[in-house]
Amino acid sequence: MLTKFIVPAAALSALGLAKPFNPSPARTLDQLAVGTWLENIAVRPNGDLIATQMAPEALVYTIRNPTGKKTQLEEIASVPAIQSIFGIAQVPGLDEETFIFVGSNSTGIGAPVTGTFSAWKVTFTTDCDTKVEVEKISDMDKNSAFLNGVAAIPGVSDALLVADSTNGLVGRLDLASGAFDTTSFVFDEMLPVEGAGLPVGVNGIQVHNGYLYFDNSYQASIYRIPITDDGFLVEGATPELVVDLSSMASFLDDFAIDAKGNLFAASNFDNTVLYHSLNSGESRIVLGSPSELIAAGDTAVAFGRGKLDQNILYIATTGAIANPVNGTETEGAGVVALKIHV
Ligand SMILES: *[C@@H]1O[C@H](CO)[C@@H](O)[C@H](O)[C@H]1NC(C)=O
Ligand SMILES: *[C@@H]1O[C@H](CO)[C@@H](O)[C@H](O)[C@H]1NC(C)=O
Repeated sequence: MLTKFIVPAAALSALGLAKPFNPSPARTLDQLAVGTWLENIAVRPNGDLIATQMAPEALVYTIRNPTGKKTQLEEIASVPAIQSIFGIAQVPGLDEETFIFVGSNSTGIGAPVTGTFSAWKVTFTTDCDTKVEVEKISDMDKNSAFLNGVAAIPGVSDALLVADSTNGLVGRLDLASGAFDTTSFVFDEMLPVEGAGLPVGVNGIQVHNGYLYFDNSYQASIYRIPITDDGFLVEGATPELVVDLSSMASFLDDFAIDAKGNLFAASNFDNTVLYHSLNSGESRIVLGSPSELIAAGDTAVAFGRGKLDQNILYIATTGAIANPVNGTETEGAGVVALKIHV
């Protein structure tokens, strides 16, 4: 199927083409102060967004009604027992609306402290909670060094998968007991490559159509491995390279895949959002560039779940504080909405 994106107005006018029907495909919904770092983004069943903060402190934000006129990041939970929050995902198939996130203490940006990780449960009780309950459910593993992406297993409500970027593994977190099985998926393709700027290999993870998809950040590559319906490794299976995007990006952070196999990835230090079609194999940059701030230091993406925004990709950013644009330009972390035509 042909996949089409709205082209920025500037690009169209440079080509001498007609004005597109939407001259502004990307819109910043809100921003925090400079020095903040949003790390992950998820979407509630009612369409509200949830964003996790990695620095300077462990906070959870929401943006209510993200298609509305006035959109703002509102703090809904603070977790003083930890300093940084990383990945978050909703637990499928529960009556209660439950999300799980992981976090830790840190000595700086991208420098979590081994052994300080924990997993937390967030429960929403109404459509308009202004504060939410958070409850620790696990201390993870004493060797957990950089827990990062969290992925739901469709149809499974008693466990989630959690990537450890430094130890090069994806473990299974049992939500009832809090046990974290670090032997679930352990592969060389998940380890940080030699010379990696940060000790980060596997980063984003997603379950899609019978596979666990994962990226290796500094390889800028996406892999997949077959799993059972219950989310266990198919015996004897090994990772297969899906796509190497290193000609377009130096780093991949979190990604999302829709039901049709359209994959979007945040490139963080390159300030771009990348697209890859699992069906056609086509890949390209759909937003931003190393010299632009529109997707400044983007860390994660998520598809809208409301009636009006299933063609909108929401992007969490850091404001490029780890790698300023042109060496000097930074801004506050925020959330950007990008209209996509797929
Ligand atoms: C993390 O830091 C907080 C202070 O910010 C401290 O209270 C807590 O004990 C630390 N946690 C661990 C596991 O070291
Ligand atoms: C970065 O530099 C380029 C080239 O000079 C310029 O076009 C661009 O606007 C700059 N970006 C920012 C965010 O200032």
